[in-house]
This record gives sequence, C-alpha cells and structure tokens, in this order.
Amino acid sequence: FIEARGYHERVVDHYNNPRNVGSFDKNDPTVGTGLVGAPACGDVMKLQIKVDDNTGKIVDACFKTFGCGSAIASSSVATEWLKGKQMEEVLVIKNTEIAKHLSLPPVKLHCSMLAEDAIKAAVKDYEVKRDMLGFKKSIST
Ligand code: FES
Ligand code: FES
Repeated sequence: FIEARGYHERVVDHYNNPRNVGSFDKNDPTVGTGLVGAPACGDVMKLQIKVDDNTGKIVDACFKTFGCGSAIASSSVATEWLKGKQMEEVLVIKNTEIAKHLSLPPVKLHCSMLAEDAIKAAVKDYEVKRDMLGFKKSIST
C-alpha cells in the first residue's frame, strides 16, 4: 500500500487495484510483447497486446510491472486505453497524456514514459512476428 499523501487518487486507485495484470503467451502469433526498462531506476515493465489479425484491433491487453507505484499505475491506465483500439491509434498515445491523467509530478514523468515505450515495443513485436509468419508462408508455397 502506498502512502496516499501527495499522490493523485487515480494513482492510488490504479496502484491498489491494477487493471489487467497478467501475461499472454508470448509465442502466440496474435500477441505482441513490449518489455522495457528505465535506466534511471532499474524498473521494468512488460506490456502485452492481443490483436485481431483481420481487423488490426487490439482485443485485449495486460501488463506486469516491477517498479514504482507510478509505473504500475501508468501501465494499468495504458492497458485500459489500448483495448478496442486500432494499432495505429495507440502509437500516438503520449506519456504526457498518461502523466496528466494521473497528475504525476515531474520527477515521475519517466514512469509514464515506460508505458509509452512499452506500447510501442508491443506493437512493433506484433508487427515483426506477423511479417515473419507471412514470410514463412510465402516461402513454403
Ligand atoms: Fe483508469 Fe482513467 S482512472 S484510466
Ligand atoms: Fe522508475 Fe517509476 S521510479 S519507473
């Protein structure tokens, strides 16, 4: 339990009741995995998306964060924002929007940056996997 003092109630809420904590199978071809670390503090965030291959829509998202309360809250918010969106739409999510939503203080901006980086890494991972599968299919035919 983090001290509520000084933190916005949304941070405390997302920290105490994080949404979408968990893992998907990273070998599932419909799953994209973003694993990022913050050099400043050593905190690590894993964020995963599950994508509908036909529509490019993110149907589910989850995370595991080994980090501070603000990083946990940022990843929790990020997973809520990802669900139901197209991949292109989530690439424009900025850490500053997450930070603003949670009213993070300036020293905690890098925590929300982890979430932005993790989203981009997850989308990239999905795209690379999908392209490789397409490549395999095309050389086997
Ligand atoms: Fe959860 Fe806004 S309070 S995303
Ligand atoms: Fe490093 Fe929050 S203090 S992610």
